[in-house]
Amino acid sequence: MAVRLRVDQLTVMRRQSAAIDRLELQIDGAELVALVGPNGAGKTTLLRTLSGLIAPQQGSITLLGTDITHLAPEERVKRGLVHVPEGRRLFGALSVAENLELGCWCHGDRDLGRVLGWLPELQSLLEQPAGSLSTAEAQLCAVGRALAANPAVLLIDEISLGLAPAAASRLFSLLPELVSTGMAVLFVEQDVGRALSVADRVYALDRGRVVAAGPPGELLVHKAFRDFELGG
Ligand SMILES: Nc1ncnc2c1ncn2[C@@H]1O[C@H](COP(=O)(O)OP(=O)(O)OP(=O)(O)O)[C@@H](O)[C@H]1O
Ligand SMILES: [Mg+2]
Repeated sequence: MAVRLRVDQLTVMRRQSAAIDRLELQIDGAELVALVGPNGAGKTTLLRTLSGLIAPQQGSITLLGTDITHLAPEERVKRGLVHVPEGRRLFGALSVAENLELGCWCHGDRDLGRVLGWLPELQSLLEQPAGSLSTAEAQLCAVGRALAANPAVLLIDEISLGLAPAAASRLFSLLPELVSTGMAVLFVEQDVGRALSVADRVYALDRGRVVAAGPPGELLVHKAFRDFELGG
């Protein structure tokens, strides 16, 4: 089977400097992959480039064997690359159900059963305007909307930002469940310890470059990663 997601020599310029610098990344199949790194490392830029919101200057992105580097964002969603953006971007005046249904546009099947199976908390909120949700509920709704698109690769930026510990734990417990159904998940997490504790593999980014990558156990004995964790 084709490699799920492959990034080759990706370079993205922002304000005359490279926010992403010849980056290489590969997700072979259903894996839980964390992206960590300091502020300004390029994590958001990478996810936005993968989902087609920013055009790279160089390099390629391949999804399930197809070169998607120059495809429009909606074409990428149709092919299974779905992004939960920083800040969630829900439609506040629409109900939770309507927000979830928007996630279904790419395949037309508006049955929310699978999403509600993963996120049963959303069931009692379906008729509420998304603008009235708590931060934790809004994050579940944003993840639910992405899941409604049936992703092969799910990208999640700042997954636990602004969430109380219990709400963050809830979301982290969902991720291995998604992977067990065959999905690949690439998520950005500020808390490196937390990312290491749940992920199958971790990419550590600094100044647009991968400074260390591998399973958490390997990274912890990797000098570059220890220096990086200590802010060196
Ligand atoms: N809209 C933009 N226009 C120009 N430069 C930008 C823009 N967004 C980000 N940058 C620059 O790109 C680089 C990477 O930023 P990015 O937001 O991707 O980092 P990040 O790892 O997501 O950081 P954070 O942890 O703060 O979210 C930074 O140098 C930043 O200043
Ligand atoms: Mg960011």
